[in-house]
Amino acid sequence: MKILVVGSGGREHALAWKIAQSPRIQTVFVAPGNGGTALDQRLENINITDPAALADFVESEHVALTVVGPETPLAAGIVNIFRARGLKIFGPTREAAQLESSKDFAKSFMQRHHIPTAEYQTFSDVAAAHRYIDQKGAPIVIKADGLAAGKGVVVAMTLEEAHGAVDMMLSDNRLGDAGARVVIEEFLAGEEASFIVMVDGKNILPLATSQDHKRLKDDDLGPNTGGMGAYSPAPIVTPALHARVMREIITPTVQGMAKDGIPFSGFLYAGLMIDDKGNPKTLEFNCRMGDPETQPIMARLKTDLLVVMEHAVNGTLDTIELEWDRRTALGVVMAAAGYPDAPRKDDLISGIPPENADTVTFHAGTTLNGERLTTSGGRVLCVVGLGDSVKMAQKQAYGVVDLIHFSGSQFRRDIGWRALKKHG
Ligand code: AMP
Ligand code: GLY
Repeated sequence: MKILVVGSGGREHALAWKIAQSPRIQTVFVAPGNGGTALDQRLENINITDPAALADFVESEHVALTVVGPETPLAAGIVNIFRARGLKIFGPTREAAQLESSKDFAKSFMQRHHIPTAEYQTFSDVAAAHRYIDQKGAPIVIKADGLAAGKGVVVAMTLEEAHGAVDMMLSDNRLGDAGARVVIEEFLAGEEASFIVMVDGKNILPLATSQDHKRLKDDDLGPNTGGMGAYSPAPIVTPALHARVMREIITPTVQGMAKDGIPFSGFLYAGLMIDDKGNPKTLEFNCRMGDPETQPIMARLKTDLLVVMEHAVNGTLDTIELEWDRRTALGVVMAAAGYPDAPRKDDLISGIPPENADTVTFHAGTTLNGERLTTSGGRVLCVVGLGDSVKMAQKQAYGVVDLIHFSGSQFRRDIGWRALKKHG
């Protein structure tokens, strides 16, 4: 059987790697893929990104189903295009992807369906936005309505920062159309967790929980990034909290989308803020898997992902259960010099060891030219270690990180610190 994975990051490498382990797989195509998917004999990169051209490829190669990694093609309607041609694809339609592609859509959806989230208002008028900030005070959070590649959220600790963020988005148009409207919302304190499920339009299959690390530097200092590391499971999500998130957030979201006439299928990722009393609120929805959360989650998945994907596109996710490696998986992102503002390219990468039972290295911003593997993006690699405790998983991951070299590499030494603080 042939499968197509759309995207080029660490998330897509991990999805393709896992699907390729299925005994029924002939080829997993990755479009466009990266240096790591080029190196793996079971994967084949194809240099196509246009959705209609991908649909042509899928038809001519008889690809059985397509899995979409990133939000951009989903928001552009790749699922609509494939479905109109009768091709099986796992992901939300353009309309359903608005849960991620429009913060205003997501917030009004949550309000309408009584899903716990921060109080908010949406503005396109600059003066009204400034007045609202003065009325509410700081800290306060300013979010561009549209997709802004991780640059659209400003958590303002002072009024000055908040007004500056509004000017940047609404007056200076620095984020283009994405920032033509802004959501201004209440600041929520607490600990974040990533809660990701698979949805087939109706049925919900939760994946293992995880926690990301957004800041560039140790101790959660430095600028926000796409994510510098993640581990699974996240002990903050206790069984009781898991049940509550399903009941108060995930189920009403899936049912609400169906009720509103835009049924959701695909990965649904709720970014949660859990306050010190253990109450969860939704910070945001993503209509895809997280990156780097996917890498440790896939490292723990024991069930054949091809079988899961078949159930997902056939609407039978209620008939399967997932089996997980009981160990903790912990992924450390190695980023390029200059990331996140101006990542440097073309640094030679060396020392990546072959995967074994306890470690695997997923590629993101890498390119293979003949034998030369070089950096080609912000987040370069995600090294995943598995262990019986967070500490053991950390030891496995950093053991490999220390073998890998590229000039100017940046990584955190403390991935997993919140879990360690809880369990020693
Ligand atoms: P997002 O791109 O929406 O995930 O937001 C990026 C990050 O900003 C989140 O992971 C949080 O750390 C932070 N954030 C977003 N919304 C809030 C909020 N209402 N209160 C506090 N922090 C927030
Ligand atoms: N790691 C956060 C995200 O994928 O949005």
